[in-house]
Amino acid sequence: MIVAGGIGLAPLRPVIYHVLARREKYGRVSLLYGARAPGDVLYQSELEKWRGRFDLQVEVTVDNVPMGQNWRGHVGVVTTLVGGADFDPARTVAMICGPEVMMRFTVVELRKRGVHEEGIFISMERNMKCAIGFCGHCMFGPTFICKDGPVFRFDRINPWLSKREI
Ligand code: FES
Repeated sequence: MIVAGGIGLAPLRPVIYHVLARREKYGRVSLLYGARAPGDVLYQSELEKWRGRFDLQVEVTVDNVPMGQNWRGHVGVVTTLVGGADFDPARTVAMICGPEVMMRFTVVELRKRGVHEEGIFISMERNMKCAIGFCGHCMFGPTFICKDGPVFRFDRINPWLSKREI
């Protein structure tokens, strides 16, 4: 399960390439992608190509459709796609990248479907300065996003996500 919001699709694209290059090693694969508006949808031709594959579920949604933009697809935040995705929760690994609030709510939806926290990975990319664990600019609780992440298994970062002041 790959869930991307906005430009979060860019860092997850190599994951999709990796999976497609070794397709036989994976079971069902779903890509859920949400953009703010039709004009913000990244890699449109690639999404179309992937959507044409029988071995990959691709669902794209936009938050809203501004006047003058054409869109015949789903409208709503990306989390609304999780309920209709085709996967076996017990065997699912989910990779999520997007705005923090989108990742939080995606995790909530995945947990509702029965995906274990240990199977969920989120990208905590933040503004970084030194990127070598020296300046502390990216600190999140006791972890350095630059050095220890930026991708974290959800259960390892979750205790700090619930702290308001972090
Ligand atoms: S960016 Fe300096 S410690 Fe992470």
